[in-house]
Amino acid sequence: MQTLERCCAQAICLQERTMETTLVLIKPGGVNRRLIGEIIRRIEARDLTVVGLKLVRPNRALVEEHYAEHRGKGFFDDVVNYLTSGRVVAMAVEGVNAIQAVRTMMGATNPLEATPGSVRGDLALSIDDNLTHSSSDADAAAREVKLWFSEGLPK
Ligand code: CMP
Repeated sequence: MQTLERCCAQAICLQERTMETTLVLIKPGGVNRRLIGEIIRRIEARDLTVVGLKLVRPNRALVEEHYAEHRGKGFFDDVVNYLTSGRVVAMAVEGVNAIQAVRTMMGATNPLEATPGSVRGDLALSIDDNLTHSSSDADAAAREVKLWFSEGLPK
């Protein structure tokens, strides 16, 4: 038991605490269903900070660049068409280990696999309208924040 406790304590200590900024998009379905407030409420309740925020109607070039890694996949055209179909909230979110914290909070990409308590597990049903996008890792976060906030984040 003592050994287990020591291992657990060490595991917690070994988990790096890194201040990160990640990108969150609320997709047109989330905006249309008036879930902007609910999603931001959950992010802020988690002790994460919104450091950039705007409501935009993204053009095709921006969305194709955003989803560049998915180019050639069967769902690429559908997801680009969907994201350009209406208004989107783009947010830069900052906090300790924010990338993983937000991904976990949003739940699995397919809402049918998302755990209850997550945004998708509570509020979504379809992978085509899974309400949000959030950056997958540090490289994606840096690239995506720069892409959606090319003017820079407000100080
Ligand atoms: P997102 O996290 O924004 O990343 C790519 C999006 O494509 C994804 O959420 C889904 O909304 C959409 N998508 C549709 N079908 C699939 C699929 N089979 N695998 C992954 N993403 C998909």
